[in-house]
Amino acid sequence: MNTQNQNNIKIAAFVCNWCSYAGADSAGTSRLQYDDSIRIIRFPCTGRIDPIFIIKAFETEVDGVLVSGCHPGDCHYSTGNFYARRRFNVFRSLMEFIGLDLRRLHFSWVSAAEGAKWANVVNKVSSEVKSIPNGKFKWALTYHKKNNGQNTEHKNKKTELSKKIKNLYESFIKEYNKPFPYEKENTLTEQLRTLAKNLLVNNKVNAIIGYKSSNFEKLTTPVVITNPESVNQLVWNRYCVNNLTSYLTRPKIKKLGKIGIVVKACDSKSIIGLIQENQINRDDIFIIGIQCDGVLENEKILEKCLSCSNRIPVIKNEYIYDKEIEIKLNVNVIDEAIKLIENSSIEERWNFWQEEFSRCIRCYACRTVCPFCYCETCITDKHRPQWISPSASPKGNFSWNLIRAFHLSGRCIGCNECSRVCPVNIHLDILNRKIALEIKKEFEYEAGVSIDVSPPLTTYRPDDSQEFIL
Ligand code: FES
Repeated sequence: MNTQNQNNIKIAAFVCNWCSYAGADSAGTSRLQYDDSIRIIRFPCTGRIDPIFIIKAFETEVDGVLVSGCHPGDCHYSTGNFYARRRFNVFRSLMEFIGLDLRRLHFSWVSAAEGAKWANVVNKVSSEVKSIPNGKFKWALTYHKKNNGQNTEHKNKKTELSKKIKNLYESFIKEYNKPFPYEKENTLTEQLRTLAKNLLVNNKVNAIIGYKSSNFEKLTTPVVITNPESVNQLVWNRYCVNNLTSYLTRPKIKKLGKIGIVVKACDSKSIIGLIQENQINRDDIFIIGIQCDGVLENEKILEKCLSCSNRIPVIKNEYIYDKEIEIKLNVNVIDEAIKLIENSSIEERWNFWQEEFSRCIRCYACRTVCPFCYCETCITDKHRPQWISPSASPKGNFSWNLIRAFHLSGRCIGCNECSRVCPVNIHLDILNRKIALEIKKEFEYEAGVSIDVSPPLTTYRPDDSQEFIL
C-alpha cells in the first residue's frame, strides 16, 4: 500500500500555553522520545483556537492537526476548554461529512504533569497520519491537477454522487410540485395593506419592509414603505421568496427607527436569532406574520417548503391568515441527500464537495442574503492576516465555504436563502442542514425556536460528550 512518506509528514499541534505546552516541555526535559513530525504552535487557551486556524493549517498542506489543552476543570481561564470542546465536536463532524479522513484531525487533553501522555499522543497521531494511503495531503487541489506542467481545470466534471443528488432533488420536485391553494392571495394582500396603512398612519412604525410586484412576471422584490400612500405597492403571493429579515441589521434600515416587517413562518425564526445575538431590539420591530403555504421560484416549489413543519410564525405581533393551514407534506429532500452523502465513502464525499466548491465564483451572494452575516468586515475581507483568499481559487473556495458554514453553526435557521441565490447552485443547504442536525443531536438545540435558550456554541455543560478527545 502506498502510505505516506514516513519521514516527510508534517503535523501542526495547536496547544494551550499552560497545560499541553508544559506537558510537551516536560516530555522534552524527561528526554522522552517521540515522533518529530510535530510542529507546536502555542495559544493562550484552547478557547482561543478557532477552527479557521485548523483549516488554514490544512490549506498550507500539513498532513495532520492536533489540538491539545488542559483537562476539563483545569483550564487557566476557567471554561475556555469547555467552549472549545463543543466547537471542535461540531467542527469534527463537519470535516467528517465533507470527507476529511479523521485520522488527520485529533484532539487531546494533556496536563503539565503528563509528559509521557504527550509523547504517546504525538506517536499515536503521527502513526495514524502515516497509515493513510494516497500520499501527502492536498487541500482542494483535486480539480486543479497539474498535467505535464500545465494546470488542467476539470470544468463541469460531475462526480457520481453529484449526479445522484441532482436526480434526487429533481424526483422530489417532480413528485411534490403541486399547485398550492392560494386562491386567497388577494384577500391576504388586502389585509396586509390595511394593517400597513394603520401602522404608518398611527406612527406605530416608521417603515414597513415587505414585497412588491416586480417588472417580471411571477417575481416579487423587497420594498421599504415609509409613506401610507404607498401601501398599495405591498403584495403577498406565492412568489414572495426572499427572507426579508436580512435587512433588519443594515445600518440604513436601523436609522429609520421602528420597523414593521412581513415574515413567513420560516423567516420569523431569524428574528429570534437576531434578538438572541443582540442585533435587533424586540421593541423596535413590529412583526407581521403571514400565512404561507409554500413559495415558488421558476414555478418550482422550494425544497425547504416540502419539509416545513411549522407554518405559523414563531414570533409575531399580528398574523394575517385566511384559514387554518392544512398542508403538511413533511418530506425532506435535504435530509435524504445527507443520508446519501453519509452512506458514501470518504473519497466520494471529498470529491463531491471539492467539485461543489470548485464552482464558487466568490460573488458572496450567500453572505449578502444571510440574516446572520452582519459583520461590518467579513473575515474573508480582512487582509492582515489574510485567513481566506478573497478571490475564486480552489483552496480559498474550499476554506471560505467551510468557514461560512461553520460560522453559522447553531445559528442557521434553514431559510436556505444562501443556496437559493447561489448562481452556481452549490448545495449550501445540505451543509447547513447537516450542521443543524448535528447540533440537535449533540446539544438538543434548534435555532430560531426560543429566545430564552442560549445558542449551543455560546454555552457548555461540564458533562458534554468528549469521546473524540484523546
Ligand atoms: Fe489550557 Fe484553557 S488554559 S485550555
